[in-house]
Amino acid sequence: MAPNILITGAAGYIGGSVLADLLSSSSNAIREANLIAVVRTKEQSQSVSELGVNVIQLDLSDDPGVREAVLEHKIDIIIHTASSMVPQLASSLIQALGERRRVSGTDAYFIHTSVTSLFSKEAGWPYGEIRDNDPILGKQKAIEQPSPVTLTDIIVAEEAKKQDVKSVNVVVPYVYGRGTGQWRKLSVNIPGFVRTSITHKTVYKFDVEGKPPAAHISDLVALYNLLLEKCLLKEPIPTGEHGYYFAMAHRAPWWEVMNRLAKALYARGLVSGPEVYTWPSDAMAAEYLQLPELYIRAMGTSTGDLVPVNAYKLGWKPKWTLEMFLDSMDDEIQAVLDLDKG
Ligand SMILES: NC(=O)c1ccc[n+]([C@@H]2O[C@H](COP(=O)([O-])OP(=O)(O)OC[C@H]3O[C@@H](n4cnc5c(N)ncnc54)[C@H](OP(=O)(O)O)[C@@H]3O)[C@@H](O)[C@H]2O)c1
Repeated sequence: MAPNILITGAAGYIGGSVLADLLSSSSNAIREANLIAVVRTKEQSQSVSELGVNVIQLDLSDDPGVREAVLEHKIDIIIHTASSMVPQLASSLIQALGERRRVSGTDAYFIHTSVTSLFSKEAGWPYGEIRDNDPILGKQKAIEQPSPVTLTDIIVAEEAKKQDVKSVNVVVPYVYGRGTGQWRKLSVNIPGFVRTSITHKTVYKFDVEGKPPAAHISDLVALYNLLLEKCLLKEPIPTGEHGYYFAMAHRAPWWEVMNRLAKALYARGLVSGPEVYTWPSDAMAAEYLQLPELYIRAMGTSTGDLVPVNAYKLGWKPKWTLEMFLDSMDDEIQAVLDLDKG
């Protein structure tokens, strides 16, 4: 029987792009599987249904609804992109998958989506350099005040172990590029800087230059595709507490990004000059970027000493380089102008 794969967040930037990529996958194992998308609203459901996939409209905080969806649709694998920071959503999905596994007697996989900035000192990572094949779970559990994202990572590994579900944790960096999903096609970060710069006619940078990990959306979805194929083929890949995959293709040097954005925005007449100014305060940055002040330094100034090993060992080959990224700033502006829903 063809395996059934549930994709949460399928109307989102990452989930929508993952779904689109799987639908055009060249992998026989993926083409033979049934893809089932979870979205939250009726409009999203109508839009994603146009792809010809089965769509479930469900709020994932509805535990009985989650259980029913997983059991009724005989789900073997879940790709969870809807939330990296609500432990309850991940744990109810994994519990339902465990129940399904006990009925089916076949392997069940949970592919989670986490965040690389967790592993920076600005976000409370106390250990310095970290490789994704290090014993990460133990280190996360020893953090005194773990963030909601860290807590979710811990829950994913522990609940999956309890349910005998194989978990894979894709730790996602700053993602850029146009999404290919049906609904949301813009990422958060660079579109946020573009919008703010246009609104205030000025490009700002932080006082400290962060150089966090980054990846183009097409490279990120290629990693989900690769991991899913390995799960479907039941290849022995690192899972559970060993199953962290830093999806880092290159770094994003923010000051250089801001220089390029300022020049490109000025050339289009969208800001009043090609200069980049420093945010006078974190409070102003938070207000202009419409983000909580608590996270603003982690977002704007973090770098993190992350070393990706596992994804590359499996054969992940990102195509986008730092140079291509920096050269794409005008495309990022155009994407916001084309796609922003306001
Ligand atoms: N984009 C990045 O650069 C980036 C970087 C690192 C990590 N991440 C992580 O990757 C994940 C996906 O990011 P994204 O950029 O694709 O976000 P996104 O565009 O907001 O997509 C998330 C989707 O999940 C849906 N969703 C959220 N909570 C739900 C719930 N309780 N029930 C049903 N659906 C729910 C949202 O529904 P609505 O549309 O109704 O809100 C949205 O469609 C997030 O956890 C994010 O933290 C993203």
